[in-house]
Amino acid sequence: MNKIHAAITAVNGYVPDYVLTNHELETMVETNDEWITTRTGIKERRILKGEGLATSDMAVHAVEGLLKKRGISADEIELIIFCTTTPDMPFPATANILGDKIGAKNAWGFDLQAACSGFIFGLATGAQFIESGKHSKVLVVGGDKMSSIINYKDRATCIIFGDGCGAVLLEPNEEGYGVIDSVLKSDGAGRSFLHMKAGGSLKPASHETVDAGEHFAYQEGQAVFKFAVTNMADVAAEVMERNNLESEDIAWLVPHQANKRIIDATANRTGVSADKVIVNIERYGNTTNGTIPLCLWEWESKFNKGDNLILAAFGGGFTWGSIYLKWAY
Ligand code: UT7
Repeated sequence: MNKIHAAITAVNGYVPDYVLTNHELETMVETNDEWITTRTGIKERRILKGEGLATSDMAVHAVEGLLKKRGISADEIELIIFCTTTPDMPFPATANILGDKIGAKNAWGFDLQAACSGFIFGLATGAQFIESGKHSKVLVVGGDKMSSIINYKDRATCIIFGDGCGAVLLEPNEEGYGVIDSVLKSDGAGRSFLHMKAGGSLKPASHETVDAGEHFAYQEGQAVFKFAVTNMADVAAEVMERNNLESEDIAWLVPHQANKRIIDATANRTGVSADKVIVNIERYGNTTNGTIPLCLWEWESKFNKGDNLILAAFGGGFTWGSIYLKWAY
């Protein structure tokens, strides 16, 4: 029997309607369109507005569209891995909430927290359940309502992040398509540079933590940039090298969309030419777990069966990783 790979057989995405432009941010904090554009590549981002709407609501849109595209019903899903840093609530898992909302009655699920590398970690994890033969339909969702943890008075973070969600379906493939290899890394020593100070067991929510703004994302941008710019590029190069892939073998580089300068560094390091690097940061900013599945969704029609894709991300934790996959359809 041929080896079973986990192939992506459907992809879909969702971004909320509200567009927060650089110009609107100029009215909120001391910044300007020129600075944001040259330092990050971002022109606008989407924000989920409306009472009672959470990360799972964006996922419902993404997943319902995905099921329709694939022509299957929700009760065929066996496992939901929900990669997010902004779960609907600390518990239960947003995977459970999503499963209930879409009617995935036969699925078990869990949330995966690896900040901006979450989708890469989730895809690698989901692939194991397919490769082992344990499951044949695994949903990997990556999404965040970053606006729920961003301080719109802090110009160091509010210009970067946006809301959005994407999802892929993994199914077994015996023809050599799907996830081929992954390189995954964590270094908890990096936690001081990017984190949320309160709301966990270390510092539960209190009036003081709220007053001090400790439920917002805290980032030391320059320090994170330094690690991201080398590590994301290194890990993409490593997965290519160990699979004997040259830059011309790569059809598409799919980088996490945190900063256009980090994307460019990864492209340079891997030698992949600009026309093969997927970039939508100018429209969505950094949607954390959403960036990579949103890129796959938007570029899906350009992919051909057998295309070699390199996915790469870097995020808080620190976490970083890269996946080599062969597009299956
Ligand atoms: O996705 C998860 C991982 N996260 C990342 O990968 C993000 C990595 N970091 C970054 O992308 C960048 O560090 C930022 C975009 C966050 C910041 O860019 P930077 O080039 O590192 O800027 P900086 O923090 O070094 O600040 C440079 C200058 C400072 O002014 P002075 O001290 O040189 O006078 C800042 O005060 O720019 C100033 N500045 C701003 N000016 C206008 C910082 N933020 C802004 C702003 N608008 N929004």
